[in-house]
Amino acid sequence: MSADGFASRLLAWYDRDGRHDLPWMHPRAPYRVWLSEIMLQQTQVQTVIPYFERFVAALPSLPALAAAPQDDVLALWSGLGYYARARNLHATAKICVEMHGGDLPRDLDALVALPGIGRSTAGAILAQAWGDRFPILDGNVKRVMARYHGIAGWPGTPAVEKEMWRLAESHLPYARMADYTQAQMDFGATLCTRHDPACVLCPLQSDCAALREGRVAELPTAKPN
Ligand code: ADE
Ligand code: SF4
Repeated sequence: MSADGFASRLLAWYDRDGRHDLPWMHPRAPYRVWLSEIMLQQTQVQTVIPYFERFVAALPSLPALAAAPQDDVLALWSGLGYYARARNLHATAKICVEMHGGDLPRDLDALVALPGIGRSTAGAILAQAWGDRFPILDGNVKRVMARYHGIAGWPGTPAVEKEMWRLAESHLPYARMADYTQAQMDFGATLCTRHDPACVLCPLQSDCAALREGRVAELPTAKPN
């Protein structure tokens, strides 16, 4: 069911130890997935939850968001910070009404063309909203790729980032893409953490290059000064 043991082990870990009750999962509609991913770009899950609930209660659909006054959107965002996210969200909703029939496009390039959506966010939306096979590569996933594959070099370097996209793609399962996407975020946030990862509890420990080579503490490579 998966391309290699990486995905199936991560999914088995997720079934036991991952987060299954986040509000944007029930129901996992494209509008709700997109909104949650924008909120989560720079804000922690526990902070996002009440903002997400208020936002979808007031503006329950993409067309409702597109039609709302800018001041209402900013008021719903007030306290979350990084207000460019709210302005981009509003602009994207209007573009989707004009160009995509009031829905988010189910297409990587069309998503990346929208304000506020980069390649990783686009992949997260496609995977969670529709189950499409696209990788994500946020800070958590970069850390796991650097360690699991033993990749040195700052992940912000174009060549390193390109290699990590390739590896992230190589691990994609053929089913359960929404769960797999959430599993990677949860795994990086709670187990393969920046400091003191729980390698003794890790489902990937038998194949982790950093653990085998004693390089866990030095990977991923820090940004050069
Ligand atoms: N960061 C970005 N997307 C996320 C998600 N779905 N869950 C947790 N953290 C995230
Ligand atoms: Fe991360 Fe440790 Fe697991 Fe390797 S063994 S993937 S460093 S938690």
